[in-house]
Amino acid sequence: MEFFVDTADTQAIRELCEYLPIDGVTTNPTIITKSGKEPEQVFAELCEVLTEDQKIIAQVVATDYEGILAEAQKIAVIRDGKNIVVKIPVTREGLRAIPAVKAMGISVLATGIYSPDQAFWAAKADADYLAPYVNRMCNYGDGVAQVVELVNTLAQYGFEAKVCAASFKNVDQVHKLLAAGVPSITVAPDIIRSMVGHPGTAIAVEEFTANWEKAYGRTCL
Ligand code: E4P
Repeated sequence: MEFFVDTADTQAIRELCEYLPIDGVTTNPTIITKSGKEPEQVFAELCEVLTEDQKIIAQVVATDYEGILAEAQKIAVIRDGKNIVVKIPVTREGLRAIPAVKAMGISVLATGIYSPDQAFWAAKADADYLAPYVNRMCNYGDGVAQVVELVNTLAQYGFEAKVCAASFKNVDQVHKLLAAGVPSITVAPDIIRSMVGHPGTAIAVEEFTANWEKAYGRTCL
């Protein structure tokens, strides 16, 4: 499975990559604007902080068919096209553009998905990844359950498209999708940190060290 970080904060990416096997980064136009930097600078920094084995998944901003195709080509040459995936929202123009971008040999992540039906059409249009916005879907129903259902629907038809669950508010939503076997996921740094850190672990480690020191007068083997 693939686990991506949903951010353009290169400091956070660097920190997480130090201790976690992160598979890459996803951004969207809003995430890039939040960096306070020019998009070109953000992409350059991502190339610096990530290895070529880690994916960079970046989104088009244009909303018309021709514009999406042009921007997809622009994104596809970042880092000489190595492990680059272009995000395209599942609008009518986007759904039309997905097979055309795929035909150019560019990997596509269909994004802005609010329903399993939109995801179905993006899969049929040959997208490589489908990004349902789990937490935003929860405004309309049970987003987690709908994404689990989507994973099963794709398997039934043998679609190659992978769900890349996105838009999370808490660890519980992430946990439920991991338990359901979601093939890929993108999560913001603060939620990833909450997944990893547990006060019980820190207490257990302190206890091991204290007992060892008491018995052997040192804090190492
Ligand atoms: C992912 O690629 C999406 O763009 C992102 O997860 C959306 O998250 P949000 O709902 O927190 O904006």
